[in-house]
Amino acid sequence: MSAPTVPSATAAGSGRSATERFTQKERSTSSVDQARVSAIATDAITALHDVIRRHGVTYAEYDALKAWLIRVGEDGEWPLFLDVWVEHVVEEVANADRKGAVGTIEGPYYIPGSPEFRSGATLPMRDGEQGTPLLFQGTVTDLDGNPIEDARVELWHADDDGFYSQFAPGIPEWNLRGSILTGADGRFAFHTVKPAPYQIPTDGSCGALIAAAGWHAWRPAHLHLKVSAPGKQLVTTQLYFEGGAHVQDDVAQAVKPELILRPTPAASGHGEEVTYDFALDPA
Ligand code: DHB
Ligand code: FE
Repeated sequence: MSAPTVPSATAAGSGRSATERFTQKERSTSSVDQARVSAIATDAITALHDVIRRHGVTYAEYDALKAWLIRVGEDGEWPLFLDVWVEHVVEEVANADRKGAVGTIEGPYYIPGSPEFRSGATLPMRDGEQGTPLLFQGTVTDLDGNPIEDARVELWHADDDGFYSQFAPGIPEWNLRGSILTGADGRFAFHTVKPAPYQIPTDGSCGALIAAAGWHAWRPAHLHLKVSAPGKQLVTTQLYFEGGAHVQDDVAQAVKPELILRPTPAASGHGEEVTYDFALDPA
């Protein structure tokens, strides 16, 4: 990894950014069925009661929990906490019936509206952006393998220091974020750099939990993607690199065997290249 370009990145900083972004996000406002709220809330609270009984949780531990929960909010780390330890099961349930491209968690760092390109693009990046050059390409098809024109492939990822633009200070707005609309052949090609493994912030409340429990804070290096097309289900996913650090022990438990890339030396002689195709389920 190169020397950090963002020395002042803090948990509180990215936590606050992630919380602000989430608060601004458009969400479904449809009313939720009261019986369903009651059933889910009752089961969740009962599950917690069971944990307290099973472990003989003490008043001191109960107070530590209260203090920690208050601090997660103060740090703005609810998006981080939920996306690391909870989202992967929501994704599993949401996408259980899909036949096409495999999904995984979105995480807290997606921003809609990234710069748009046709067919091929170099992601916005700084002069001398650190990291192995990577050509990431593929085809978007329907479930029968027919190419889809005007499919949208959105790619975002961390830099070589593990930082995301718009969440860590000092990085240009759209750095390492971009969208491609496919041509009639369904193909897309991004020139970018390989991201580094990502450590969830260790200086906030999530880091305090990790330290107290003796866990590690690492996610493997990953590319984030959203792939969509008219009349098709959008897939949100991530791709990882074979043999990379923490592919086997991702703190967010978001790695699946179908999501491992095996890049080869690029035909251009410059960096690496890899092909990955997306088949989209009908909407
Ligand atoms: C988190 C960060 C990620 O980059 C990701 O993909 C998932 C979760 C996080 O810090 O919560
Ligand atoms: Fe990520």
